[in-house]
Amino acid sequence: MSISNITPKIIELTKRKLLSNPNHPLSILRSKMYSFVHKTYPGVFITKDDYDPVVGVRENFDNLLIAPDHPSRRPSDTYYIDENTVLRTHTTAHDCEMLKNHNAFLMTGDVYRRDEIDSTHYPAFHQLEGGRVWNKSEFSFAAQEKAHDFALTELKGMLEGLARECFGDVEMRWYDNYFPFVDPGLELEIRWKDNWMEVLGCGVYHPQVLRNAGKSDDFFGLAFGIGLERWAMKVFDIPDIRLFWSEDQRFLSQFSATKGITKFKSFSKFPLCYKDISFWVPEKFEENDFFELVREVGGDLVERVEKTDKFSKGDKTSYCFRVNYRSMERNLTNEEIDELQFRLREKAVADLKITLR
Ligand code: PHE
Repeated sequence: MSISNITPKIIELTKRKLLSNPNHPLSILRSKMYSFVHKTYPGVFITKDDYDPVVGVRENFDNLLIAPDHPSRRPSDTYYIDENTVLRTHTTAHDCEMLKNHNAFLMTGDVYRRDEIDSTHYPAFHQLEGGRVWNKSEFSFAAQEKAHDFALTELKGMLEGLARECFGDVEMRWYDNYFPFVDPGLELEIRWKDNWMEVLGCGVYHPQVLRNAGKSDDFFGLAFGIGLERWAMKVFDIPDIRLFWSEDQRFLSQFSATKGITKFKSFSKFPLCYKDISFWVPEKFEENDFFELVREVGGDLVERVEKTDKFSKGDKTSYCFRVNYRSMERNLTNEEIDELQFRLREKAVADLKITLR
């Protein structure tokens, strides 16, 4: 593969650096989380927030034991700059580097994934990552499992504390989940307004990951990754993930580092306008390519894209997608939506080789 699948829109996003504004809700949440950890474990964790989002395939995948044929590596899911370089899909890409010099770290950064379009999915978002290792010689563990038990207990205690700090006194439950770089891998869910919601992934470092970080086999430890938008949408009451990228003062001026966590007051919602596009699906077709194209044309005016129909005739398949347009800042005119939809149709034919119906 020689051609990058990064669009101008994504390049723009890499330049925004939302976390460098201390009054941005994501930064306010980060401060709260960092303070909690520093208060609970004084002097243990170092923090780093300035790693570049451009990383090697090695850092993002290989070092973390993500198999060569794992779906997350596909160009339909990941932004490639070239064959060996990607926009990080998670902050875990830096764990090995961090562990080379530190035994405990916290870090945040922007991460990029090609994905569907709705109020909780955006091709760029932010993660808070943490890792902590210990040397077995500091303990009198007889068996390897004891070290694991110790790390797991520490991990759960710390993350339950962090979740309680941000969400209040909520119900929580732990699930097993598979991540290649940890064993065991776990997921925490909290009960929020009558729904269970997954809030983080974590686990005990796979020994090979620690070796890849240059650690001797005497080390063991824990790792976790948190999607900041997911937490921030709940604690600040922010209804749409696009708002984090808004430059509208009616959004930004509501938040400040000194005030800490406050509830967002929605400004009036402008009307929704939707347009359908139906086409015959070509042989090689990735839905994420279509979503990307919709973002290229419609930008943040696109609120959601839903597949509303699918049928087959002979060996041909047809999809219908409903594109929901809404601005968070103003009324859209019919003409401008028609114009966007027209460009979308043309570009889908030209770039994705679809046949309009
Ligand atoms: N990197 C994982 C993700 O993005 C989260 C994770 C981090 C899981 C560390 C386990 C340990 O989904």
